[in-house]
Amino acid sequence: MFVDIHHHLIHGVDDGPQTFEDTQKMLIHASEQGVSHIVATSHATPGREAFPADRYLRHLDQAQQWCDEQGLNLTIHSGCEVLYTDESPRLLHEGYVPTLAQTWVVLAEFFPMDSFERLCQAARALGNEGFTVVVAHVERYKALQSMKHVEELREEYAVKMQMNCNTLLTKKGFLTDRWVRKMIENGYIDYVASDAHNVSSRPCSMQSCYELLKNKYGEDTANALCFENQMELLGLQ
Ligand SMILES: [Fe+2]
Repeated sequence: MFVDIHHHLIHGVDDGPQTFEDTQKMLIHASEQGVSHIVATSHATPGREAFPADRYLRHLDQAQQWCDEQGLNLTIHSGCEVLYTDESPRLLHEGYVPTLAQTWVVLAEFFPMDSFERLCQAARALGNEGFTVVVAHVERYKALQSMKHVEELREEYAVKMQMNCNTLLTKKGFLTDRWVRKMIENGYIDYVASDAHNVSSRPCSMQSCYELLKNKYGEDTANALCFENQMELLGLQ
């Protein structure tokens, strides 16, 4: 039912699972959380470190095959979480780094203290190459604590915004909690995603997040943020 567009389940590629057994645990956990589609977004740093595409795709195929054998109703899509660098637009365009589910959508992360101008520059450069930008864990950036900046990115550059489940599920302090509530009430969050790295300290918690959204903001918002918007974004049926 849920579509998780930010999830580090591929082993031996980044700081997610290191063994296939750990990947298996994450897949079982995601399935128990009601997830039916996962975009496997391993970290990529274009221009700094070559993305290990062969290993990534081999491990993704292995994970999908295992799901099918186990009868888990899970489809794993390719993708990555791109740390934005000046090389990113070109290397994405040339296909060295996977986009989300082979669409023209890029899940982009930045350094927490990057300036607003840097975020705009990234959105412009990626937009010029034909990509739609989804900002990963939008709650992490100092520049986006300003609603005006959030609005400008959305209006000027059609940037989409993803929030981590964990941010909703744990109290982060008065100011952050108020910012989170405003972002959702204003319709500035397009997707929630797990950003899962394991099953212990950073697990997939889509089901709990869905329940919280439903109770706090209503079923329509919960549906939109947990699967409807994602299905539209990725062209899933
Ligand atoms: Fe991530």
